[in-house]
Amino acid sequence: MTAVPVLVTGGAGYIGAHACKALARAGYLPVTYDSLVTGWREAVKFGPLEEGDLADRARLDAVLARWQPVAVMHFAALSLVGEAMADPGKYWRANVLSSLTLLEAMAAAGCRRLVFSSTCATYGDQDGVELDEDTPQRPINAYGASKRAIEDMIRDFGAAHGLEAVIFRYFNVAGADPEGEIGEQHRPETHLVPLLLEAVAGARPALTIHGTDYPTPDGTCIRDYVHVTDLVDAHVAGLERLLSGQGGRVYCLGTGTGFSVREVVAAAGAVTNRPVPMEEGPRRKGDAVRLVCGSTRATAELGWVPERSSMEQMIADAWRWQQRPGYRV
Ligand SMILES: NC(=O)c1ccc[n+]([C@@H]2O[C@H](COP(=O)([O-])OP(=O)(O)OC[C@H]3O[C@@H](n4cnc5c(N)ncnc54)[C@H](O)[C@@H]3O)[C@@H](O)[C@H]2O)c1
Repeated sequence: MTAVPVLVTGGAGYIGAHACKALARAGYLPVTYDSLVTGWREAVKFGPLEEGDLADRARLDAVLARWQPVAVMHFAALSLVGEAMADPGKYWRANVLSSLTLLEAMAAAGCRRLVFSSTCATYGDQDGVELDEDTPQRPINAYGASKRAIEDMIRDFGAAHGLEAVIFRYFNVAGADPEGEIGEQHRPETHLVPLLLEAVAGARPALTIHGTDYPTPDGTCIRDYVHVTDLVDAHVAGLERLLSGQGGRVYCLGTGTGFSVREVVAAAGAVTNRPVPMEEGPRRKGDAVRLVCGSTRATAELGWVPERSSMEQMIADAWRWQQRPGYRV
């Protein structure tokens, strides 16, 4: 039987590539649509690559017509909080306008199922509250604001054009494919786990901790971390919810456990059995103090149980990926 195509925007990026692997394993044909602005050609291993920018409507129309996907998984975005604070226009254009082009192309092509990668950054600073799907969204940076705007657009397209969407909100994704085929590598890298492992390996002089005077037990920010393979399993389950006619839904994907930056550093030292060179720096604009979300709804409705998301497992998998020959900083 021919595998059913699913269009994966951003399939050459970190999470998108892992999603392609999970889709292929579940029997789908993941067709990557990616401009390679931050992604990697060599990460597209599980289906074809259609190079193109989301802003290019004619290219999107041609790709949708060629593959006639049953759904789109939409990961492509810019996601650097600091850059978004300094240049919000870039984020509104790259994330919101591009997503609008995608939604319009999907409506024109009659493709009415979407799995969307949103973020807990849409919540902003919520004063220690454990986040869930009903927590009001009050983003404090342009990245979070752009993602919330896309969520709003998706709802409007649902009402007007029958688009059904599963929206996932998650914060810190970490780890790598346990089989070592793909892993995390952003350019530039700003994520804590790869950065600190690069410092451990001597590939960068030290990890900078951005802010040590936050109102948390050790003064550093607290985040909820999910293993990338657990995360993409939820995306496949979300897709199957749509395909079985159960309709759109919003899900938070977190473990409900927060780790401070210092706790992650300590775990990395223990897993690698090496010191983590680090220095303390000032706070970064746009960083929330504590972002932790549970997954009660995803567990109840999608049967989602994060199995690899212990901090030790995420660091061990990321470390193995970084140790391979050819890892570039
Ligand atoms: N990594 C995390 O911890 C995290 C947490 C929450 C949400 N997210 C969201 O998950 C998604 C994927 O994140 P990631 O970490 O894999 O990022 P990534 O940068 O590794 O991947 C993004 C991919 O999208 C592509 N892309 C970007 N803009 C494009 C455009 N206009 N047209 C075509 N392709 C384009 C890039 O080339 C890249 O391959 C993003 O939407 C991000 O906001 C990530």
